[in-house]
Amino acid sequence: MEDRSLNLAPASVADYRELARTRLPRQLFDYIDGGAYRETTMRANVSDLRDVRLRQRVLRDVSDIDLSANVLGERLSLPVVLAPVGLIGMFARRGEVQAARAAEREGIRFCESTVSICSIEEVNRATTAPMWFQLYVMRDRAYAAALMERAQAAGCSTLVLTVDLAVVGARYRDARNGMTASIPPGKKLVRAWDILSHPSWVWDVALRGKPLTFGNLEAAVPGASSPNQFKRWVDNQFDPSVTWADLDWVRQHWPGKLVLKGILDPEDAKEAARVGADAIVVSNHGGRQLDEVRSTASALPGIRDAVGDRLDVLVDGGVQSGLDVVKMIALGAKACLIGRAWAYAVAGGGEAGVAHVLRIIRDEMKVAMALTGNRRIEELGPDALDLL
Ligand SMILES: Cc1cc2nc3c(=O)[nH]c(=O)nc-3n(C[C@H](O)[C@H](O)[C@H](O)COP(=O)(O)O)c2cc1C
Repeated sequence: MEDRSLNLAPASVADYRELARTRLPRQLFDYIDGGAYRETTMRANVSDLRDVRLRQRVLRDVSDIDLSANVLGERLSLPVVLAPVGLIGMFARRGEVQAARAAEREGIRFCESTVSICSIEEVNRATTAPMWFQLYVMRDRAYAAALMERAQAAGCSTLVLTVDLAVVGARYRDARNGMTASIPPGKKLVRAWDILSHPSWVWDVALRGKPLTFGNLEAAVPGASSPNQFKRWVDNQFDPSVTWADLDWVRQHWPGKLVLKGILDPEDAKEAARVGADAIVVSNHGGRQLDEVRSTASALPGIRDAVGDRLDVLVDGGVQSGLDVVKMIALGAKACLIGRAWAYAVAGGGEAGVAHVLRIIRDEMKVAMALTGNRRIEELGPDALDLL
């Protein structure tokens, strides 16, 4: 049904998506919004989760609801973490700093991507809460080790090792928009118009948001701002030869909590428990890597059954509301990471936008908890769901 409301104020993640769409040049919006190949898995993440039904229960004294949760030894006001999202400083002025401040204000954790615009140190200077740091295993192990040292020095509590990027999945939108492929000279005007027709982005980010380089990779990709240069670095540095045995090496350099992100199969989850990871993130990279794999909501219960309590199971993919968070916890996750939801918010409304989206999620969670008759996050289980 067509939505005929006045649209005076954003009320949902979908509204921030629309704001991001109007504020960002098309190629940047599509970079956030798109997925790999036919985008089947990206859509399935959302639709499978939406199809999970909550079980309405009544008359259970839900006057005192507590949404706080213990996640990897840290008490968070919500079982939600801002997932690592690369290039955020291209969507909003010093975007990583704005998002990390919003996360701190709302009592949750921000996870800094390796490929951030603002460096670990810049984000650390702007906040007091510990952040998480996401790392890819690179061919240049000395550089990866140096990044772990920098993260430790900046007080990061948790290392999120992304393991589903042995090779890079193609995103058609990015290729068409010239994000990952060079554009023919005759099309350069089209790109220039895409940028110039978004003056608020030009003013906020392109002019006042400098330097627009990769803060954590300055030594590796000096001054890299062109997509081609960055893509060359990615192609050269992401290491397809990594195996479970390499996790020993990571452990030697990282004394804090270790999370493996990008697990979609129960056998891999068991292996993660065997090698001593503290947690996994059940993830298909938001449908941005291998398309036509299963959604995370459908993979989660089997993975949770396979590992039991041997490690913490986190999840991401398609989480766009507080109802979605409650469903994922009920399906067996300890906490959810959100990706696009906060990327749209920072692009659409900066720090205030991210904080607002987190409050929206909090309020929606409260309603979902109350009307499923649950007062504590720990109480949520399959009982909160109407499994059709
Ligand atoms: C624009 C964008 C950039 C991303 N960059 C990274 C990254 O640098 N490192 C990483 O591990 N995951 C990255 N991801 C994946 C997210 O961490 C997360 O797994 C995914 O967004 C979850 O799905 P959702 O967007 O539906 O919430 C990125 C996702 C998006 C949308």
